Amino acid sequence: MRRIISSAVLFLLAATSVAQAATPEDSIKYRKAVMETMAGHIAAITMIFSGKIDAQAYLLSHAEALAAAGDEVGKLFPAGSGVGKTEALPLIWQETERFQKDADAAKAATAQLRDAIKSGDKAAIGKALKPVGDSCKGCHDRYRQED
Ligand code: HEC
Repeated sequence: MRRIISSAVLFLLAATSVAQAATPEDSIKYRKAVMETMAGHIAAITMIFSGKIDAQAYLLSHAEALAAAGDEVGKLFPAGSGVGKTEALPLIWQETERFQKDADAAKAATAQLRDAIKSGDKAAIGKALKPVGDSCKGCHDRYRQED
């Protein structure tokens, strides 16, 4: 028992130190990875939904993963992660409330798409796709440096 407890404590300590060690560089790398997954899932969903790819069985899992990432967007920009190899504009940390609204819009739109796909209603899915893209673009236009 004691051994189980001490290894649990060790695990917690390790987990805590990992969480505290997030450098700006890691935060940037992580948010780019999550952003890339969203683009990937949207591409997959669009290809399946349009009938180009016969992978209907995976449509919902792509939508679930997209919604999970959409839920996380607002947490991907910790203070201090605006310097380094990043296209994130300083404005993000100057008007955090407005920025969080854009993050919430992506969360809501991706959740809506997931629910539409869950329902199987094709018209609802078609309708829910555009707001997702709009929510990405809305935030990028204001807060992401253009190439
Ligand atoms: C609330 C703001 C916001 C929302 C919403 C948002 N993004 Fe982003 N996105 C950013 C910012 C800022 C960057 C630049 C990040 C960086 O370079 O550190 C970015 C970067 C990216 C990148 C480039 C990542 C890389 O490797 O450099 C992709 C791809 C991307 N976003 C896709 C999406 C998709 C798809 C959506 C919608 C489902 C979305 N984003 C929603 C703010 C947002």
